[in-house]
Amino acid sequence: MVRYQDLGLSNTRDMFKKAMAGGYAIPAYNFNNMEQLQAIIQGCIESRSPVILQISKGARKYANQTLLRYMAEGAMQIVKESGVPIPVALHLDHGDSYDLCVSCIETGFSSVMIDGSGLPYAENVQLTRKVVDYAHKADVTVEGELGVLAGIEDHVSPAASHYTDPNDVEDFVKKTGVDSLAISIGTSHGAFKFKVKPGEQPPPLRFDILEEVERRIPGFPIVLHGASSVIPEYVAIINKFGGKMEGAVGVSEDQLRRAAKSAVCKINIDSDGRLVVTAIIRKVFAEEPKEFDPRKYLGPARDELAKLIVRKNRDVLGSAGRV
Ligand code: G3H
Ligand code: 13P
Ligand code: ZN
Repeated sequence: MVRYQDLGLSNTRDMFKKAMAGGYAIPAYNFNNMEQLQAIIQGCIESRSPVILQISKGARKYANQTLLRYMAEGAMQIVKESGVPIPVALHLDHGDSYDLCVSCIETGFSSVMIDGSGLPYAENVQLTRKVVDYAHKADVTVEGELGVLAGIEDHVSPAASHYTDPNDVEDFVKKTGVDSLAISIGTSHGAFKFKVKPGEQPPPLRFDILEEVERRIPGFPIVLHGASSVIPEYVAIINKFGGKMEGAVGVSEDQLRRAAKSAVCKINIDSDGRLVVTAIIRKVFAEEPKEFDPRKYLGPARDELAKLIVRKNRDVLGSAGRV
């Protein structure tokens, strides 16, 4: 058993308490490789922002669970050496089984998500409760989910999304004992979140549902998945240098800023990081076709991602300078 406390990691309890009181949200960035992790850590140290490092089941399979754990431990060492004491949580994103959550908790994760959102309500409650009972013994925090987001996830491929029903949230939180709740208010995973005609704005998020949820469970930390903005500048670079991502659309930064000021304490961002990295690599390949040293294309991609993270923390989540 590896205790996250021994690695210098934090669970999300105190982070969310401060975010709720301060009217900002903690960024949760996914990573699968060294360059992404370097960019997240550097960007969050530079902007003095607390951070949740997210690992999906797919990331664990891709990068090797042991290596990922040591990478997170290495990241904590870098934080210590920086002299900027940013709180860092290591979180399982979209855990789909009790065993997976247990395995992560035993190998140093400080927080897990158990995503039973695709299950019938009673089964979601039962599975989530079981994970909470195990996790809380190790003071690991747990995120549950109610409502289904459209899009590609590790294990959930619903035909259609359905919004969270505010009538369920109080009962779910009480019966499961979760520490935070992911809800569905119109976001979805990936880079094609809305079908809009050129020049049209995507539909606004369902803030009415969020407000009703806040009324039912006042002061309870809410999580927003599928919150990438799919920044047009990077989509344009991808398309210019041989990619095919016409029609990619995300959640506007205005909507995210509004969410961050509410009970939304955690905002999940993965696709934006993928887009930046792809854009820069495509650009280097196109402009310097003789280049074959991975450091020459992964390096600039990493540096651009770090810049994006600083900007998001400062201008969108409001988490910059909170340490
Ligand atoms: O919500 C899903 C995250 O973006 C993780 O994606 O399962 O492809 O690693 P992944
Ligand atoms: P995006 O695909 O919008 O980045 O969402 C990521 C996410 O929700 C990870 O759990
Ligand atoms: Zn998600």
